[in-house]
Amino acid sequence: MPYISQSFIDDLPNQIDLVDLVNKRVPLKKTGSDYRAPCPFHGGKNSNFSVNVHKQFYHCFKCGESGGAISFIQKFDNLNFVEAIETIASEFGLAIEYDSNSKPIDPRLERYRVLSKKVGEFYIAQLRNSPAKDKAVTYAKARGISGVIAKRFELGFAPPSNKDLLLHFENSEQDILDLKTLGLIKEGQYGDYDFFRDRLMFPIHNAKGDIIAFGGRAFERDIKAKYLNSSESTIFSKSRELYGLHHARKYSRSINHILVVEGYMDVVALHQAGITNVVATLGTATTSEHLQILMRTTNVVVFCFDGDEAGRAAAWKALKITLPMIKAGITFKFLFLPDGEDPDTLVKKESTKAFEQRIDKAQPLSKFLFDHIKSEVDFDTIEGKTLFLEKVAVLIKSINYEIYQQQLIEGLAQIVGQSIEQVLLIFNDKQSQSQGSSQVQEQPPVYFDIESEYAENRDMDFSEFSEYSQVETTPVVMRANIKALMAKMITLVLNYPVLADATVEVRVRNIENSQVLLELIRSAQIDVDTSQADLIKPFQSQQGIFNRLNQLCTLEPFLSESQAREEFLFILNTIEKQQSGEKLKTSIHQAHTLEEQQKIMQGILKNKLKS
Ligand code: UTP
Ligand code: MN
Repeated sequence: MPYISQSFIDDLPNQIDLVDLVNKRVPLKKTGSDYRAPCPFHGGKNSNFSVNVHKQFYHCFKCGESGGAISFIQKFDNLNFVEAIETIASEFGLAIEYDSNSKPIDPRLERYRVLSKKVGEFYIAQLRNSPAKDKAVTYAKARGISGVIAKRFELGFAPPSNKDLLLHFENSEQDILDLKTLGLIKEGQYGDYDFFRDRLMFPIHNAKGDIIAFGGRAFERDIKAKYLNSSESTIFSKSRELYGLHHARKYSRSINHILVVEGYMDVVALHQAGITNVVATLGTATTSEHLQILMRTTNVVVFCFDGDEAGRAAAWKALKITLPMIKAGITFKFLFLPDGEDPDTLVKKESTKAFEQRIDKAQPLSKFLFDHIKSEVDFDTIEGKTLFLEKVAVLIKSINYEIYQQQLIEGLAQIVGQSIEQVLLIFNDKQSQSQGSSQVQEQPPVYFDIESEYAENRDMDFSEFSEYSQVETTPVVMRANIKALMAKMITLVLNYPVLADATVEVRVRNIENSQVLLELIRSAQIDVDTSQADLIKPFQSQQGIFNRLNQLCTLEPFLSESQAREEFLFILNTIEKQQSGEKLKTSIHQAHTLEEQQKIMQGILKNKLKS
């Protein structure tokens, strides 16, 4: 596939009118030098969302979302990078320039892609021609897989001998080496052998539709590993791939929602039943990378789990990973199936319609959250209610989407029969953050507050501003705002280490609670070519921070270096302004005498004259 030329991408902002592009989606009003609207990303009534014509840049002063045209379309239209460019180009009548010279960065990738395709074809041919094929055909039939669906999923057969694949590729030394890298051929004491033997083969595709790995289902019931997967490689990472995503996109008319199930067979059986908007995790728990992909694909994600204990535990894990990722416009739901059933068995037992009705009735994330914690405590006692409040508070704190966070706080207040103000006290109570752990058995899976580990060293906390009416009503929001901006800067440094220089370092050092960012900036300056993994390694012992950094690594800002720099400096400016404003407010407030107050006011005036 040809690549869009870098110069076309870099020049795109100059070729289009960002205001026009945004205005078609979010009606803008001219205010002063920029255009404003309520933010389409976090919602809200106030016009915090600003589009700057000269900079070709949008920014929300509340939630910190910002970027250029491509990033806006990616987020708003839920598209990937290339799709976003294509959309913009077509709206402005631009012809995309492709770059025929650019090659994939790593030549191995193209080799693996071609080879995996050939292996897939080999397994398909074996399903047709192998002397042992009957077993596979009978098995597939017994499981209700039709010829059409087998073809759609390119199902194949790995024959029982342990050398068929090996012999098929034996003429090419390079192929054999690559097959070993991909985990399809293994080295044994008595020579090389095929990894997959006597199994029904499921090729695993990436979103583009290339085969990147395989899963194999054993025919016999008592065999040790019911499913085997090819090993992780440069082209296959289980935590990043979703089985069936390519097929969901290809065979669904629209993806109003997507169902996330546990198994290969569930995906295949649902397609068979006409339900095509479905993906499966590959024998791993849902990861934040999975969620990011899903959120780019649809607005409603429905997790589907068995109703048994293990299913509930897996669902709970998924919920905890999901909380920090929730953002405007995306809904997460949970569907629990009757004990002992999975989508494959259930859709066969019931009708497609009945199964779809179950999907429609999936419970909202908030219900699952409250119900689950309720079931863990003795809710009818004061102690149980207290524990309930604390446990829920820890989880709600991990949410970055402020409006949803506020809604949950309101829901929580209702459930425990207290006022929102009373509940908010718990959220802003530093005690509950640092000492609460003795009572709260369950720690949040992911700490969303990067700064929380530094809490003791804080010389200033936002709660100090609680006397200011503006802040008083929205302390959670206020913190989340700075957090979002800080996270954005960290993402930018992790993805563009060249942004780190001495000037930036000095400025960041003066920002409150910027230790993590500062350390990253220092490391990045030592070696510009350093990898993300190396950058975040020093935080390995601080699990909360490390997890969060890992998530921030996976965000794909897709900006050119200059756009990234512009965005970084813009955010830095915003935080500096905000914090210097807050500092002055505090110092004025803390001034005891009129004289002190006047001194401070003079300081402000001087600063104003300077700038
Ligand atoms: P399940 O055991 O629920 O399998 O594992 P399933 O999809 O219902 O399979 P059938 O219906 O018995 O054929 C769910 C998923 O977990 C992974 C696979 O990805 C499987 O689809 N798994 C399971 C493994 O990787 N290895 C195993 O041994 C078992
Ligand atoms: Mn099953």
